[in-house]
Amino acid sequence: MKILIHQTKALATDCAASLIAARLNRQPDTVLGLATGGTMEMVYANLIARHRAGEVSFAQATSFNLDEYVGLPETHPCSYWHYMREKLFDHVDIDPGRAFLPHGDAPDAEAEAERYEAAIARAGDIGLQLLGLGLNGHIGFNEPTSSLSSLTRIKTLTRSTREANARYFDDPQDVPRLAITMGIGTILRAQEVVLLAYGAEKADVVARMIEGPVAAACPASALQMHRKVTVVLDEAAAGALELRDYYEQVHPRVGETSS
Ligand code: PGA
Repeated sequence: MKILIHQTKALATDCAASLIAARLNRQPDTVLGLATGGTMEMVYANLIARHRAGEVSFAQATSFNLDEYVGLPETHPCSYWHYMREKLFDHVDIDPGRAFLPHGDAPDAEAEAERYEAAIARAGDIGLQLLGLGLNGHIGFNEPTSSLSSLTRIKTLTRSTREANARYFDDPQDVPRLAITMGIGTILRAQEVVLLAYGAEKADVVARMIEGPVAAACPASALQMHRKVTVVLDEAAAGALELRDYYEQVHPRVGETSS
């Protein structure tokens, strides 16, 4: 894993966005794996600004999002379809016909998960996968004890995930209990992975992901098995890393040179 520790959240965000922009500039028809959540909002705002400045185009890209709540139609304000349109798709030149998420309101959610997995494979798998990190170590909605070789399927959300996401819903009871999510095996097939985490509350789980054992109890630890992962952190999220000195030796003063 390549561990990049930045001084601030803004620098970490800019770094993650620059990795995506660089990949698109190198390979305009990249298949992007996209994520939602609070962490990604600044990344997408940064990419929109780069797009407006003529620095990056999504015109030839394809995208697959990690997950969607079961039961929410595309038009639901808390659906990830809605999030992606609002935070990114409506503001850049991505072809809406090539920007995919699972359909949470499909009549047969299991069949929809299988269809989505097949669509990803047919597209040649993900080129660059963007990831956030759940407080419980989830990536996508692969909750603790998910099979480390799982494919896209339905997962039951943990109480902690539902609580963390309740802020988006009027009533915490409205947070769906199930989601369709790419599997850990799906994610591990990506050519490269960029995971972004910031804030002190993520420090412990970041340390478990990078320095703990590979274990289904911390699904993100499966990334230790991937050949090309870049973990982008701010100072606070790096706070519990035992080998931090080493990471900063390998990538010195990265926070000062990234912008
Ligand atoms: P967050 O969510 O960006 O809102 O912290 C991350 C995740 O749960 O994957």
